[in-house]
Amino acid sequence: MYEMELAKPAMKPAALFLSSGDVLADRRYERAKAYAAEGDRTAAIDLLMQALERAPAFASAWFALGEIRAEDGDCTGAVAAFRAALAADSTDRHGAGLHLARLGAADAAPAMTPGYVRSLFDQYAPQFDRTLVEGLGYRGPELLRQTLGEACAARQRPFYFQRALDLGCGTGLVAEALRENCGTITGVDLSPAMAAAARRKGVYQEVVVGDLTDFVVAQPEGSCDLVIAGDAFVYLADLAPVCAAVGRALAPDGLFAFTVETHAGPGVVLGEKLRYAHAADHVRAALAAAGLVSLMFESVSTRTENGVPVPGWLVIAGCNPSPNKPC
Ligand SMILES: C[S@@+](CC[C@H](N)C(=O)[O-])C[C@H]1O[C@@H](n2cnc3c(N)ncnc32)[C@H](O)[C@@H]1O
Repeated sequence: MYEMELAKPAMKPAALFLSSGDVLADRRYERAKAYAAEGDRTAAIDLLMQALERAPAFASAWFALGEIRAEDGDCTGAVAAFRAALAADSTDRHGAGLHLARLGAADAAPAMTPGYVRSLFDQYAPQFDRTLVEGLGYRGPELLRQTLGEACAARQRPFYFQRALDLGCGTGLVAEALRENCGTITGVDLSPAMAAAARRKGVYQEVVVGDLTDFVVAQPEGSCDLVIAGDAFVYLADLAPVCAAVGRALAPDGLFAFTVETHAGPGVVLGEKLRYAHAADHVRAALAAAGLVSLMFESVSTRTENGVPVPGWLVIAGCNPSPNKPC
């Protein structure tokens, strides 16, 4: 099996393609995608079925079929196709499990597989800064820097952190914004291509490729002065594990700063764009269970989508000096 990109539109990464290993099936898949792009869904479905006859475990073809059927309103057919895509690629690099959740055929808030996040961002990496900052007006790093400055002033502590961790560091936009305020910054990201781009910025002491929660769990207790995550928790369903790990790793006067997207109801919701939106109740419960208190909990929008600001929270939290006496 090999991976390749089939197309590269400006604002959306190419559909992930995992070869079936059968040249004819792969060609039918490519033609099907071209038909789908032109709006001829019947021809696209027909060609995908032909490809799947030749290569029944062709994950990309099952996934493409699921997408077309879902767009056509054929939920039963879409669920069957996404289930087959998942069975054909147990690491679920296409994110079929997330589509099953959206269709009500699986746990409503499943954990995103590392394979999905990695393949998504490995494809995004070359165009990430341009797409996010210019295309979607991303201003998470700037807002985090500004609010952290305010939190430091309110706590009467210097706006300086000796040892900082940047979770889901991506290409390093957050570290670029905070380089003057940190002694060392260590980044962690699941995507090797994003991590490589971050290293090229030259602002990190080290950039580790791995899962952000595992990375924080491995930190010595009380060793971090700042833990920051810009636009990374939208890829985590449950924030409790990462908050618990941060609560342990944070120095007594350390700060934990992050952004999330949010929604009007309670709990955690997987949005149409396959990012998680966390309601304030979920964030507050995860912080409280970790022995952390929020110092600032601000309604912000860090980016737009289709020209509309996406609602979210920017949170600065610190250690609770006494469980019975929140700061
Ligand atoms: C939208 S980008 C944000 C990047 C950067 N923090 C910024 O503000 O520009 C989200 C990043 O989080 C990473 N990510 C998502 N889930 C992760 C996880 N569980 N562990 C490590 N990195 C993760 C992705 O690979 C991606 O690079």
